[in-house]
Amino acid sequence: MPGVIITIAQQKGGSGKTTVAAHLAVALGTRDKSVAIVDVDPQGSLGEWFERREERLGEEGIDLEFRTASGWGARREARNLARHHDFVVVDTPPKSDIEMRPAIEIADLVVVPLQPTPVDLWATEPTLQMVAKEGNEALLVLNRVVRRALLTAEMADATGGLGYRVARAQLGNRVAFPSSMGSGSTVIETDPNGIAAEEVRALAKEVARRAKE
Ligand SMILES: Nc1ncnc2c1ncn2[C@@H]1O[C@H](COP(=O)(O)OP(=O)(O)OP(=O)(O)O)[C@@H](O)[C@H]1O
Ligand SMILES: [Mg+2]
Repeated sequence: MPGVIITIAQQKGGSGKTTVAAHLAVALGTRDKSVAIVDVDPQGSLGEWFERREERLGEEGIDLEFRTASGWGARREARNLARHHDFVVVDTPPKSDIEMRPAIEIADLVVVPLQPTPVDLWATEPTLQMVAKEGNEALLVLNRVVRRALLTAEMADATGGLGYRVARAQLGNRVAFPSSMGSGSTVIETDPNGIAAEEVRALAKEVARRAKE
């Protein structure tokens, strides 16, 4: 059986795609589960993260395979990687439909990170429409959540109310995310017992389960 392909997509820039991609990749990888990542974004942020990671870890650490691809190449690359890996995580660029569409088409699950504000939700509509058009279903993941904000609860209701699937797991607005990424790491490695790591593990578990549904 080929591995599961998880594409992270959201046309709105800065919603947390690359952060979610890196964290999911590391959280999904275990001693007996192998993970590959594909960066479809010409900005190459995930690639930079990966390079730092390689410099830091050398040959140690979990075994992540990294590839870049563009447009239709992403579909082919993801499919090939899925032959030899349990999970393939694909990070996509903002704005560009052309780059994003093939990665959405090939995915077993499309994860759409969303900051919980009404404006972000409006800006997410085109992405959700594109996912539906490709015959796929999106899983919205609320990112940079501020726990006590009433707005977050309202937003979770609003997204669910629109008939979209919303992940139970959410990621808080925490400095630990950018600061871990800066050193080619993730919160799972920089603070394995912290809340951020707990959130990521819960998200990975939910994503893995839903991708197989
Ligand atoms: N949960 C979080 N808590 C705090 N900061 C976050 C969180 N998620 C993302 N960020 C920060 O928000 C910014 C945008 O995140 P990221 O680069 O992952 O988004 P993106 O969707 O990949 O952006 P682009 O559309 O440019 O590719 C980064 O500075 C990142 O460190
Ligand atoms: Mg990005």
